[in-house]
Amino acid sequence: MRKAVYPGSFDPMTFGHLDIIKRAAQNFDEVTVSVLNNKIKNPLFSVEERVKILEKATKDLPNVKVDSFSGLLIDYAAEHGFHVSVRGLRAITDFEYELQIAQTNSKLSHGNLDTVFFTAGLEYSYLSSSGVKEIACFGGDVSECVPDFVADMLYEKYNQKHKGETDEQQN
Ligand code: PNS
Repeated sequence: MRKAVYPGSFDPMTFGHLDIIKRAAQNFDEVTVSVLNNKIKNPLFSVEERVKILEKATKDLPNVKVDSFSGLLIDYAAEHGFHVSVRGLRAITDFEYELQIAQTNSKLSHGNLDTVFFTAGLEYSYLSSSGVKEIACFGGDVSECVPDFVADMLYEKYNQKHKGETDEQQN
């Protein structure tokens, strides 16, 4: 069975990620999308929220599973029998960072974890989770970037944040 893991922060998942997930699912027997539990990055959404978003968005893809991990990707991959890590490339600017991660993982795993890149569809190549968060933070339209239920979650998060800031200023 050809199993692959698609690791990432997914804070939150965008249509760009979903495009990579769908294409990976067509090329592997099973794809596990796994959310990195990384406290250093100070994510907007909790790991549980990010997992729920991915589960909801991939519910019609029978060979896609959703999970989370912490620590090194190579350890998680070895534990679960993944020999391929899937990553998306949007532009040449992603390449250096991705090449470094891929080579680090190959070296650390003694060749047991390869990386397969899918190039982002042209309509998604401008998309990033951080860009989407910035647009949503200022009340902009993110309907072409994320599913509607994710857009609602984003606006709700920022409403709560803005309310918290206003309350703080008044006290
Ligand atoms: O969506 P992101 O934040 O670009 O994903 C980065 C990710 C999760 C692929 C990468 O940071 C990762 O695998 N982190 C786990 C720790 C690890 O294995 N580090 C060594 C390789 S850089």
